[in-house]
Amino acid sequence: MAMKGVILAGGLGTRLSPLTKITNKHLLPIYCKPMIYYPIQTLVDAGIRDILIVTGGSHAGEFLRLLGDGAEFGLKHINYTYQEGEGGIAQALGLARHFADNDKIVVVLGDNIIEKGISGQVREFERQPRGARILLKKVDDPHRFGVVGFRGKKIASIEEKPKKPKSDYAVVGIYMYDSRVFDIIKTLKPSHRGELEITDVNNAYLKRGELEYSYLDGWWTDAGTFDSLLRANNLVAKKKANCRI
Ligand code: DAU
Repeated sequence: MAMKGVILAGGLGTRLSPLTKITNKHLLPIYCKPMIYYPIQTLVDAGIRDILIVTGGSHAGEFLRLLGDGAEFGLKHINYTYQEGEGGIAQALGLARHFADNDKIVVVLGDNIIEKGISGQVREFERQPRGARILLKKVDDPHRFGVVGFRGKKIASIEEKPKKPKSDYAVVGIYMYDSRVFDIIKTLKPSHRGELEITDVNNAYLKRGELEYSYLDGWWTDAGTFDSLLRANNLVAKKKANCRI
């Protein structure tokens, strides 16, 4: 079955200013490659060849200059679209509706970098008849992320950046959805930070009893703050990443 990939690389990257004054956050270096190369490789390694990049801000044209038609990654072509402003991850995902065209999608946040692959989890989602699948990872600082609460082995709740996290399991910025995600996004209201939250999307699937999860193997980091950007660089350098793609 066709499975498509969506990379969300919008937002204004204000937490990284002044690094993001004259470029887009996802074009900043992570060791030997621009940040955006990593989520693309994550999808390609999972066998996904049809990819949409949602970008935004003042430097969106640079993605085209850098990535062109995606041939370097073995893609037939890359599709691009543009998010005005910074209305949230779910708003950015909403722009992928026409691209998805009723196929299942794997969504990767443009600043999420992982050590290993997600092929196994993507195959599990292929076998899943409907709904959504999220990836979980045990972390030391859950309050920075979406965090799950468990009832036995079942997810009972997901909270966005909770002050008192119900577990140490963060929701990784890699999500798998069936095409009904776009109807869910249409029903969302902006959160207190003025954004359409991806956590609200996941909670909508949870409420329907259609949210599954897998654990992620290997390390995982985002790269949206000075500290996590540095950590991402160090982790990739230590892995001795293959600097040729
Ligand atoms: O990294 C995983 C975490 O990502 C999850 O655990 C959280 O549940 C989820 O809300 C998100 O948290 P952040 O607050 O760290 O997300 P951030 O605003 O840094 O956005 C992450 C990426 O999403 C960013 O690199 C580009 C994309 N994005 C974000 C916004 C706000 C967009 O494409 N458009 C947007 O409007």
